[in-house]
Amino acid sequence: MNNDAEVFPQPAQAALERFPIVFSGDVDYAAPLGAAWAPGRVNLIGEHTDYNDGFVLPLAIDRVAVFAGRTRGDDVVRLWSMHFEEYAQFSLEGLPVTFEQQRGKLPAWARYILGVATELTRVGVTLLGFDAVLGGDVPLGGGMSSSAALEVATAEACAFFSAGRFTIAAENATLTPLQVAAICQRAEQVASGVQCGILDQAASCLGRPGKAVLLDCRSLEFCYLPFDAPDLSLVVIDTGVRRELASSAYNERRKQCEEAARMLRDLILQHEPGNEAAREIAALRDITQEQFDLYAVELPEILRRRAGYVIAEDARVLQTVKLLETNTFEEIGKLLWLSHAGLRDDYEVSSAELDTLVVIARQVQGVVGARMLGGGFGGCTINLVHNQAVGALRQAVEEQYPSRTGRQASIDICRAAGGPGSAEVK
Ligand code: GLA
Repeated sequence: MNNDAEVFPQPAQAALERFPIVFSGDVDYAAPLGAAWAPGRVNLIGEHTDYNDGFVLPLAIDRVAVFAGRTRGDDVVRLWSMHFEEYAQFSLEGLPVTFEQQRGKLPAWARYILGVATELTRVGVTLLGFDAVLGGDVPLGGGMSSSAALEVATAEACAFFSAGRFTIAAENATLTPLQVAAICQRAEQVASGVQCGILDQAASCLGRPGKAVLLDCRSLEFCYLPFDAPDLSLVVIDTGVRRELASSAYNERRKQCEEAARMLRDLILQHEPGNEAAREIAALRDITQEQFDLYAVELPEILRRRAGYVIAEDARVLQTVKLLETNTFEEIGKLLWLSHAGLRDDYEVSSAELDTLVVIARQVQGVVGARMLGGGFGGCTINLVHNQAVGALRQAVEEQYPSRTGRQASIDICRAAGGPGSAEVK
């Protein structure tokens, strides 16, 4: 087997090697062996802005979820998870109608995969069954969007194992990357019950080495920005805390934002009856800082804090874009600290452990900026760090985090990497 290291990410090679062991004896070996994968993400800035129709600035990272296997001639999907050491099997027959009935019989990890297959069939795509080993190196539940990586890898695997029945490509294709992202977002909502935005799935679909993506979550227009600072590292520190509180609090934040946008629109119209443009206000993205400053005082306190954070965060994303264009990373760092303060004090989605990591990072010279990453309550922080300060940051975290929190943190250095991919073993 020639698992070309240039072609296959390391976790794909590991899964390819495992495949014949797990599925020995009962596979149609005529079909070619191959792998499909998709990356996790970090978000530089723009947290909880996606479902407010705002802006985000993520990058795909060099950590992937991967399927390694081969196509079957029928409607059956059989999976082996290397992480959970568990089989799962479902049928493509009758999807999307048979989704509910099949879902209950599957382990949680496989529901995401069934969810994506279901949403793909809902948009009219015909799929072929496959056998695959599922692997990867995105820390599960750790805030780097392991579930989005799994969903996008599923879409990529479905395209790959369906032998050209449908394709994913930038132009003139059955599905564009952002259509795939929207399909995966729906699968996530159904599988997890979280009314998530499109950030994670879009970041995974659009990844490019050395680039961050500015995405307008309303129009879905996007552009790439260089993220190349050879003397800086992107350090992700995992609190070791998983997000039990997250789904209900996330959905509650989303509702509060929608309510705040409605109230602010009504207040503007009440005070400025001739303001025709205000009738079009549909989300917090449409409220300017000036309008917020004028009318926020009339909002209930919680809604004022939630909306204030989102409006300021959207502005920080656009400021960061300008700063990236001129490689002014020290200024970007300041925006990261501010973003964290807003998430902690006004949006209230941080946690004692996340705050502790940010406080520790702040004391280390050479850390340019840090903040919590993703939905919050647990998971990890993102730290922009001068290369020569990475060791000092690691040492400070190892010395202080366990005694302050009673937990262990793990530290990872990530690079901006490419989007989904697939290849046959030659
Ligand atoms: C989670 C959601 C995303 C986004 C972030 C917060 O990761 O899945 O859609 O809302 O939280 O920015």
